[in-house]
Amino acid sequence: MRPAKRIENLPPYMFARIDQLLEEKQQQGVDIINLGIGDPDRPTPEHIVEALCQAAHDPANQRYPSYYGLKRLRDTISLWFEKRFGVALHPDREILPTIGSKEGLAHVSWALINEGDWALLPNPAYTVYKTSVILAGGRPYDLPLLEENDFLVDFDSVDARTARRARLLYFNYPNNPTSAVADGAFFERAIQFAKDYDLVLCHDCAYSEITFDGYKAPSLLQFRGGKDVGIEFHSLSKTFNMTGWRIGFAVGNSELIDSLATLKTNIDSGVFNAIQHAAIAALEGPKEPTEQTCLIYQKRRDLVIETMEQIGLKAQKPRGTMFVWARVPPGFTSESFSQKLVREANVFVTPGSAFGSFGEGFIRISLTISDERLKEAMERIRLCLSAGK
Ligand SMILES: Cc1ncc(COP(=O)(O)O)c(C=O)c1O
Repeated sequence: MRPAKRIENLPPYMFARIDQLLEEKQQQGVDIINLGIGDPDRPTPEHIVEALCQAAHDPANQRYPSYYGLKRLRDTISLWFEKRFGVALHPDREILPTIGSKEGLAHVSWALINEGDWALLPNPAYTVYKTSVILAGGRPYDLPLLEENDFLVDFDSVDARTARRARLLYFNYPNNPTSAVADGAFFERAIQFAKDYDLVLCHDCAYSEITFDGYKAPSLLQFRGGKDVGIEFHSLSKTFNMTGWRIGFAVGNSELIDSLATLKTNIDSGVFNAIQHAAIAALEGPKEPTEQTCLIYQKRRDLVIETMEQIGLKAQKPRGTMFVWARVPPGFTSESFSQKLVREANVFVTPGSAFGSFGEGFIRISLTISDERLKEAMERIRLCLSAGK
């Protein structure tokens, strides 16, 4: 049976290939330490699990959920957002729960892009932006994230003709995979760019709460004009160690939210009500569990940065996300260096090129593994590289 061309034309989802490779290694009995995937190693806080259990017993929650999410959840998101970013959001028009932020990020292209429209996409980036633009019939246009620009989108490098043809621009700070963060001046420039060229800003804010050293990540919507041109995607996955639960939310311009909601009502039937109740408990609950998570990643980040310094690999100390983005040694590509580490150190790190051509020359090290295993992985990498000297 042949799938549709749109499926045939897609590159395989990177992590599916990695899973296969690691499974092969595991079948051979090799103890591989996987620093590839950003999936929190710590459990969801107990009060959130408890809220799910209680809500699951209620027959009212076992029926189809509302397409637009529970009113109580939208009210809770509105309160959380105001407290966190100082931005008031209308619960009925400017907020839409999603089945994880990935689902919203993928569907927003379908809601906004016409066949042949251009979409401006960071490179390297979370791969979902590009594949969803392709699936929607759009044409991806690369915005290189370069080290010399602190991995920020360089709006001045986009020529006016290209910008005018674009309908949508995706961006993401704190950034996966580079772990760069963006300041207010950057967001203001993005808004101006969107207004100048009449395009939509789609900001992926999945890591807004995973930050270190006292840094607080901003929302696009807290800057003047942000709501005129933007839609922003938030996630409970990393903030509350809830990757498996599949809940996030879109916020922003009411017309953009409405377009996304219209599409979604035709495709999915919303998020299980009991999970929405758990999300309410998460957003209304104490801040300490998230602060604790950030402190744990911060300590792990320091260990990885220290090892990178010892072995002479250049890496910026990140102020957010759960990744370290490091340069590969001279003479290696991202892929050949990653393979060397699998072969000789039994440690898997993601080659930067998996996130796009401008990720070439880098690796991404994930911090979502126990302290002990991370320590062991760093020791293996250190030994492997010093053996070659
Ligand atoms: C940059 C970025 N955005 C969005 C997501 C999707 O997160 P979720 O669908 O779990 O909310 C991820 C997940 O890894 C990510 O790295």
